[in-house]
Amino acid sequence: MVPQDMATPTHIKEFEMKSIAIIGLGQMGSTLARLLLEAGFEVHVWNRSPGKTAALAEAGAHLAATPADAASRAQFAVMCVHDHAAAMEILSQQGVWHALKGKALLQFTTFSPQEAAAASEAARAHGMAYLSGAIQVAPEQMGKPDTTILLSGPRTAADSANAVLAALGGNVVWLGERAAAAAIMDLATLSFVYGATAGFLQGAALAQREGLDLEHYGAIVQAMSPSFGEFLRHEAKVIASGDFAVTQSPLSISVNATRRIHGAMHEAGLDATLPAVIAQLLERAVAQGYGGEELAAAVKVIGVKS
Ligand SMILES: NC(=O)c1ccc[n+]([C@@H]2O[C@H](COP(=O)([O-])OP(=O)(O)OC[C@H]3O[C@@H](n4cnc5c(N)ncnc54)[C@H](OP(=O)(O)O)[C@@H]3O)[C@@H](O)[C@H]2O)c1
Repeated sequence: MVPQDMATPTHIKEFEMKSIAIIGLGQMGSTLARLLLEAGFEVHVWNRSPGKTAALAEAGAHLAATPADAASRAQFAVMCVHDHAAAMEILSQQGVWHALKGKALLQFTTFSPQEAAAASEAARAHGMAYLSGAIQVAPEQMGKPDTTILLSGPRTAADSANAVLAALGGNVVWLGERAAAAAIMDLATLSFVYGATAGFLQGAALAQREGLDLEHYGAIVQAMSPSFGEFLRHEAKVIASGDFAVTQSPLSISVNATRRIHGAMHEAGLDATLPAVIAQLLERAVAQGYGGEELAAAVKVIGVKS
């Protein structure tokens, strides 16, 4: 059962969504508007600086004078602006909440989990449904079959936005009714992205210092990424199950590997801070008795109990 404080206002009905308001036409917002126009939606757009609306108007978008104007003309609103402060500034403009009453707002502006929960509560108090969205790709990768979009909020609102979401990406993952869920998962996936990127850059520096071809490096990393993704998915299941018996990769192997990376970076005269931190994390796991367990057992050092 859906907890009362997360329930969709009862007057928000499922309907065939045809007209959409897009509030914010930066890199991402203008991509959303273009994709929805291409999918045949009636699109009403508003942006703080009017200069960004010309190309969309030529493509068939209707220009709104204010965010309230855009919201009042559409059945469903999508917001995608710089940050939480910008989004709240827009929502507090005269007539915006009123124009959204009885409708749903899909918030694609990146919010913290706390900001998402508070915005959802405010939206509910104004009689509208609130969906938190987190786009996992850059604008160029939007609208593709594997484009991942995280979503949380009332199921009925998410269902009624199916056609809108399908035009934006082929892999829409609804994470439940809790408004903060999409923002939390966004932080979790970003943690992976930036951790992997930092490791990638370390590897690039080492390969370059040793005179290897960086295009080869990039191609090798790309080729190994799908199977690495499978491995990480397995490790997530291991953590969820709490059974860290070795099935794929013993933690002790990775201790040795990260020590070797640290040594090679150090000897090459490169900054070895990151491999040192990773090696230390794994060494702490060994010191706490997890050396004979699956690699994922290192999560217990970070704070997850077995
Ligand atoms: N681009 C990406 O790769 C990407 C990927 C995932 C998620 N996102 C998220 O999507 C959101 C938008 O990103 P973006 O790349 O489209 O950013 P952007 O190109 O910098 O555009 C920012 C937008 O916010 C508007 N804005 C800023 N402050 C405002 C204010 N006080 N009042 C009204 N409008 C304001 C800007 O209006 P003006 O034109 O008037 O300046 C512009 O439309 C961000 O929260 C970002 O984290 C972006």
